[in-house]
Amino acid sequence: MNIKPVKKDDLLKLIEIEKDVFDYSASIDDFINYFNEDTIKIWKISDQIIVGFVIFYQVRNEIEIIKIGIMESCQRKNYGSLIINKIKKLNDIRKIFLEVSVKNTQAINFYLKNGFKKIGIRKAYYKVNKKRIGFKIIIWVLIKMKYLKFILSQ
Ligand SMILES: CC(C)(COP(=O)(O)OP(=O)(O)OC[C@H]1O[C@@H](n2cnc3c(N)ncnc32)[C@H](O)[C@@H]1OP(=O)(O)O)[C@@H](O)C(=O)NCCC(=O)NCCS
Repeated sequence: MNIKPVKKDDLLKLIEIEKDVFDYSASIDDFINYFNEDTIKIWKISDQIIVGFVIFYQVRNEIEIIKIGIMESCQRKNYGSLIINKIKKLNDIRKIFLEVSVKNTQAINFYLKNGFKKIGIRKAYYKVNKKRIGFKIIIWVLIKMKYLKFILSQ
C-alpha cells in the first residue's frame, strides 16, 4: 500500500473513482485545474491499482481537505484512514479543516473515527439544471494534540 502525489497520467483514473463515489462529480478540467494549482495537492492511494485519492489545500500550517474518495468496492478497508493519518504526519501542520453534507453519514462516521471535531454548520448551495439547491454542511476540524495543548495553556 502506498500513498503518493499523482502524476498527470493518473487523473483519468481518478475521474473514474470520482464518478463511482460522488453524486455530483468534477470534470477532467476541474482535476487539471487542481493539479496545476501550487497550493493544492492530490495524492493517490494504490495497492497494485489506484483505489482512492485525496485533494487538499495547504496554506502555511493549515490544511483544508477538498475531497477524499475511495472506490466503492474498496471502502471500509482502512484506506481512507491511512490517507488521513499520512496528512496528520505532515510537518508543521496545526489544523486540518473540511466540510461535509449533514446527510453524508458514512463520511461523518469516518471523520469522527479519525479524530475530527464538529465546529459548526452552514448552508451551502449548488446548481442543478440552473436551479439553486441549498443543503447544510458540517464544518470539521482536527487540531494536532501538541498545538491543542499549547492553545489551551495560553
Ligand atoms: C468516506 C470514505 C472516504 C471513507 O473511506 P474508507 O476507506 O471507506 O474508510 P475506512 O475504511 O478508513 O473507515 C473508517 C471508519 O469510517 C466509517 N465508515 C466508513 N464507511 C462507512 C459506511 N459505509 N457506513 C458507516 N460508517 C462508515 C466507520 O466508522 C469506519 O470504521 P469501522 O469500519 O471500524 O466501523 C469513503 O467511504 C468514500 O469514499 N465515501 C464516498 C465519498 C465521500 O463521501 N467522501 C467524503 C466527503 S469529501
